[in-house]
Amino acid sequence: MDFIDLPQLLAARGTVRLPGSKSISNRVLLLAALASGDTELRDLLQSDDTARMIDALRTLGVKVEALADRRFLVSGVGGVFPVREADLFLGNAGTAVRSLTAVLALAGGDYRLSGVARMHERPIADLVDSLRQLGAEIAYAAQDGFPPLLISSPTPGSAAVVRVRGDVSSQFLTGLLMALPLRTVATTVEVVGELISRPYVELTLASMARFGVEVVREGWQRFTVPAASAYRSPGFVEVEGDASSASYFLALGALGGGPLRVEGVARDSLQGDVRFADALAGMGAKITFGDTWIEAAAAADGRLQGVDLDCNHIPDAAMTLATVALFADGATTLRNIASWRVKETDRIAAMASELRKLGARVDSGDDFIRVVPPARAQGLRPAAIATYDDHRMAMCFSLAALGTPLRINDPAVVSKTFPDYFERFAAVTRPVPVVAIDGTSASGKGTVASRVAEALGWHYLDSGALYRLTALAARRAAIAWDDEAAVAAIATNLDVDFSGGLISLAGEEVGDAIRSEEISAGASLVAALPAVRAALLFRQRAFRRLPGLVADGRDMGAVVFPDSMTKVFLTANVAIRAERRHKQLIEKGIAASIAALLLDLRERDERDSQRSVAPMQQSADAELLDTTNLTIATAVAQVLEWVNKVSDSG
Ligand code: DC
Repeated sequence: MDFIDLPQLLAARGTVRLPGSKSISNRVLLLAALASGDTELRDLLQSDDTARMIDALRTLGVKVEALADRRFLVSGVGGVFPVREADLFLGNAGTAVRSLTAVLALAGGDYRLSGVARMHERPIADLVDSLRQLGAEIAYAAQDGFPPLLISSPTPGSAAVVRVRGDVSSQFLTGLLMALPLRTVATTVEVVGELISRPYVELTLASMARFGVEVVREGWQRFTVPAASAYRSPGFVEVEGDASSASYFLALGALGGGPLRVEGVARDSLQGDVRFADALAGMGAKITFGDTWIEAAAAADGRLQGVDLDCNHIPDAAMTLATVALFADGATTLRNIASWRVKETDRIAAMASELRKLGARVDSGDDFIRVVPPARAQGLRPAAIATYDDHRMAMCFSLAALGTPLRINDPAVVSKTFPDYFERFAAVTRPVPVVAIDGTSASGKGTVASRVAEALGWHYLDSGALYRLTALAARRAAIAWDDEAAVAAIATNLDVDFSGGLISLAGEEVGDAIRSEEISAGASLVAALPAVRAALLFRQRAFRRLPGLVADGRDMGAVVFPDSMTKVFLTANVAIRAERRHKQLIEKGIAASIAALLLDLRERDERDSQRSVAPMQQSADAELLDTTNLTIATAVAQVLEWVNKVSDSG
C-alpha cells in the first residue's frame, strides 16, 4: 500500500499558483471541440480528468495540440465529429461522462461510453431519460440506469420542451444544455425538483456564452437554447485557477497562521467554490480578496468557530469545511449535501469514518454531516486515513496535519485534479522540527538525546525501546524472533505507553525487562526484519508533535525523519561502551562480565550495520560525535550548539 506520512505542522504561509479549474477546463475543452474555428485554451488543468476528456476528443477525431506554458490548441469540428463510431473510456470523470453522453446522443454516431468501476455505480438515468425525450437512442450495456452506455444515432424529433431532474446532480442539466445547440430547433429545459449546485450551472452558461451561445434563463426552472444556436470559437479562453483546489490552501492559511495566498481566483470568479472563502470568514478566519488572488490568515485570537451552514452552493469545497471543523470551537453542521453520496465515493460515509479515526464525534444523515471536534486539550489522534479513490478525501485530510502527525493512504488519487498537490503543500507548510541522534549501542545516545529533549522542552523518542518491546512481546507470545510475519503483527499491535517517563507493555511497567541482555539480543534480531521495521515506521513518526522531537536510534536521520533539522551520529570506542554498560548493570544489581559485554556489543554493531534494511550508518548530512573522551554534559552541550546553529540560520 502506498502512503504519505505527514508530520505535524507548525505553520503554513506563502503563495500557491493554482492549477486550472477542472470544471472550466472540461467544459471549454468540449465547447472548443464543438465550435467552428480554433481555440487556444490557456492555463488548462492537466490532470487525470482532463486527460480523459482530451483522449476522448482525440478519439472522436478532434485535433487537440499541447503547446508550451499550459496552453492547448483545439481545432473545432463545427458540431460534427469526424469519427462516427468509437469506444470511449472516461475513468472517473463525472463532468466528462455526463456532458459527452448528452453531446454524442444528439450528435449522431455509434458510441460506447464507460469508466472505472465506481463510474458504473454513479446514476445517469435522469439524464438518459431526458435525452430520450429528444429522440436519443441510448441503451445500458450492463445495469439499467448506470454506465456503460451504448449510444446510436437519434431519431430526429421536434420536441420543444425537455424535462430533467435537478436535485441529484447539476451535471445532468449541464450536459443537456451544452448539447442542445446541436439541435436546429429551439429547446426549453424544465428542471424538475429543486436545482442543486447552481453555481456549476452558472459556470456552464458562462462557458457557453463565451462560445457564442446565449441561454435564456427564467429563474432556476426554465432554460431555453434558441433555434440555430451554434458554438463559435472566441479565439482564446483563459481558464481560472481551480476554486475547489484553492479551498485546501485557504484553510491551511486560516489554521496555520498564514497569510497564505492563492493566485488564479478572486471574488468575481465564475466558480461557485470561491464562496468557500466566505464560509471560512464566517468561522472567523481573516480573508482578503485581490484582483487575481485570495488570501487567508488566522483569526486575531487564532480560533475558528463551528458553523451551521447550507452547503448546496459549494458541494465540493464543503468537504474542506468538514476537516476545518476539527479545529473549530464547537460543532459544525454541513447541510444540504446529499450529492456527496453519488460522487467519487459516498463522501458522507467516507468523511464520517475517517474523521472519527482522528477523535471527532460525527453524526450524519442522508444530506448532512455534523462534526464535533475532540476536546482541545486532547488534540487529534494520529491515524492512517483511507482515501476511497477520492482525490478530495486525500486533500481535505492533509489539513489534519496541523493537529497531529498522520498517514494518508494512496495519496496518488490527487492526480484526478491536482497531480502535484503534496509538493505544493510541502512548499507552504513548516513541519514540527526533529533532532535525530543515531549511533551504536551503549554509546550514550539515549542519555544524551533525552537530556537534549529536556533542555529544549521537546518530546523524546527512544526508538530502540520499540524494537525491544517488540522482542519482549514476541517472547511472551511464544513467537520466534525470526518469524517475520508473526513478529510484524506483534509490532503492529503493540499496546505500549511511554507517558511519564515509564515504559509499559499492556499496562505492565517493563522499563527494566526490556534492557536485559537477552531482550537486547532479541531486539537486534527483530530489528533486521523488513516487515517489522515497516510496521513500526508510523508509530515512530507519530511522536513528532509540537513543539519538537528528539529521536534516538539507528535510522532516525536516514529513514524515519529524513528531514530532521539536525542529525547527529554518536559513537564511542567499543571498550569504553562495554565499560559503561557494565557499570550501569552493576548499579542495577545485575551481574555482568565485561568480556561478554564486549563480545556482545561487537556482534550487535555488526548486525545493526550489516543488515539489508535501514542499516546503522553515519549519513553524509550527520554530525559525528565521538563520546569516548567526553562527559555527558559536554556531549549534550555540543548537540545543543548544533541545534542552535540551525535554528539561528533558519
Ligand atoms: O538503541 P537500543 O540499543 O535500545 O536498540 C535496540 C535494538 O534495536 C538494537 O539492536 C538496534 C535496533 N534499533 C534499530 O534497528 N533501529 C532503531 N531506530 C533503534 C534501534
